Amino acid sequence: MIIAIDGPAGSGKTSTAKLLAKKIGFFYLDTGATYRSLTYAAIEGGLSLSDENSLLNLAKNLDIRINANEIYLKGIDISKKIRDPLIDKNISTVVSFPQVRKVMVELQRKIASEGNFVVEGRDITTVVFPESKYKFYLDADPKIRAQRRFKELKEKGLDVDPEEVRTDLEKRDYADKNRTVGPLTISEDAVRIDTSTLTIEGTVELLARHIESKSTDHSSTK
Ligand code: DC
Repeated sequence: MIIAIDGPAGSGKTSTAKLLAKKIGFFYLDTGATYRSLTYAAIEGGLSLSDENSLLNLAKNLDIRINANEIYLKGIDISKKIRDPLIDKNISTVVSFPQVRKVMVELQRKIASEGNFVVEGRDITTVVFPESKYKFYLDADPKIRAQRRFKELKEKGLDVDPEEVRTDLEKRDYADKNRTVGPLTISEDAVRIDTSTLTIEGTVELLARHIESKSTDHSSTK
């Protein structure tokens, strides 16, 4: 069974999805982390980030292992490195290539085929798992999302400027919503939740209630 969650950066979907998975005994897949790893591997390998063929080749051979808390590239833990602002700045180009996304979507489906998963990202409810019975779209006020992202980076000990964090987030929002393949859109049948004034626990509680009520609703065919 798949629980699909989409939303923009800073909407709280990562913390929510992680806690929800723990609570209901599911595995957790952060698809953003798979794209971040690809971007990291491309930068590390000195590839041109606008060279679709090289990126496609890299995606096809991407040797990653991922669990709820860590991600390994060729056996090396890159969990911290993929959260660096350098990745935030460069990722939008890498994720914009349709063929590259196709390969990554296959990889994500393969990972999630191994059990019950809470999967989160931008195109999970629309492209990766459109057939899922449980779909959510998390959002929050852009100012709040920027504050959350700033706090997160600060807590990691990074010296970041709040204004720069806000601009980077706006740029990523724009790129996420406007790319031709797998853009961030709200699936018609997704439950939309505004997390601006909610705690992570409160959001998880809401999702869990929706899941519970849907799983006892036998009128639904999906
Ligand atoms: O969720 P995140 O901020 O770690 O995601 C990083 C970037 O990856 C984000 O700017 C958009 C992209 N992404 C995507 O294109 N499709 C997904 N399913 C997940 C993330």
